[in-house]
Amino acid sequence: MSTPAAPTPAPVSKGLEGVVAGTTAISEVDGQRCELIYQGYNIDELVTKASYEEASYLLFFGKLPTRSQLAEWTRQLDGGRTVDPHVLEILKQLPIHAPSMALLRTMVSVMGCDDPQAEDDALDSIRVKAIQMVAQTVTLVAAIGRLRENKPIIPPKPGLSHAANFLYMLHGEEPAPALAKALDAYFVLLADHGFNASTFTARTVTGTKSDYYSAITAAIGSLKGPLHGAANCKAMEMLEEIGMPDQVEPYVQRTLADHKRFMGFGHRVYKGADPRAKHLKAIAKSLGTTKETKWFVISERLQEAVWQAKQLYINVDFYSASLLHYLGIPTELFTAMFACARMAGWSAHILEQWADNRLIRPLSQYTGPRDLKLVPLSDRT
Ligand code: COA
Repeated sequence: MSTPAAPTPAPVSKGLEGVVAGTTAISEVDGQRCELIYQGYNIDELVTKASYEEASYLLFFGKLPTRSQLAEWTRQLDGGRTVDPHVLEILKQLPIHAPSMALLRTMVSVMGCDDPQAEDDALDSIRVKAIQMVAQTVTLVAAIGRLRENKPIIPPKPGLSHAANFLYMLHGEEPAPALAKALDAYFVLLADHGFNASTFTARTVTGTKSDYYSAITAAIGSLKGPLHGAANCKAMEMLEEIGMPDQVEPYVQRTLADHKRFMGFGHRVYKGADPRAKHLKAIAKSLGTTKETKWFVISERLQEAVWQAKQLYINVDFYSASLLHYLGIPTELFTAMFACARMAGWSAHILEQWADNRLIRPLSQYTGPRDLKLVPLSDRT
């Protein structure tokens, strides 16, 4: 009997480029028009008119809160921000100079082990866990930052906004309103972004009907990569390597000669400017006028030089670097800051996936050998 012919290969899209893998009502990333929409609202509007509290409510519930709904949502976040002391004791046992994203990933996993409701997959129960996780991530990240500098952990202060609370817990003093507003806008801009790698990871884990904490742990692992969330740390390291505005041009030439990438440049979906970047640039500029201006100056020159050399647009991570630096946040915490913002988006996507689930299971095209004959172990060389 003749061997059946090998199956005709189906078209493959490397990196799933251009593949529409599902539907979502949470956010639209319009690559052609270079727009980002949360539940019908353009981020250009949201960033100036809504707080992270309002934006996270919008992502969770599909509509902006009324005044009383916002008061209740803020109360829930405020009440949920305290991390259980025995969970913080476990954080203290970890090697605190491990990457902050590895620490955060581990702590989310610990919180999953600690939560008696972790396996309850009723939507209301998942929503309760998600609200708590959004609230507690800033507390955990600030605690990581404090412990790394050998300083005592500061508990959250009820009544401060989500962004102000983070800066308070990290620095030990209430931030000036302009600094809290800057971080709040950063959180709004990074709260969600369609089927990006970490969100798709969270949805894939949820697709197997695994628990909320497993999906978030996996998402953090995905965001940790330098082609995704860690590009903000790498962008800051790049600015530090450049060091002075007059070193921008030599740096660009070196990077081109070495065929390396400029961190914070390029995007898979946007065919033009990343719509978040102009807002982050304006905020970094305003913060830079009162602090060390050189980081903004280097950034602006680099943006120009990379455009001249390679016509690459900046992405969300480029001006996030100087913005977060100006807020006094150590570079090692930058990607964890991204996770603080994205926790609302990940959670909303997990809830949406649960509400209408189908296992996510793509095909692969086999490229290995066929029809090999098994040689007994004793005869193999
Ligand atoms: N620096 C230099 N060249 C870049 C570049 C960058 N940041 N981003 C893309 N390119 C170039 C590639 O070298 C490649 O050129 P080539 O065809 O001559 O080799 C071309 O653009 C396409 O790159 P590719 O990696 O296939 O595009 P992608 O859609 O898969 O990549 C990113 C998207 C984000 C992974 C990519 O732009 C990148 O690595 N950026 C730097 C990391 C970063 O900022 N990540 C955060 C994303 S929000």
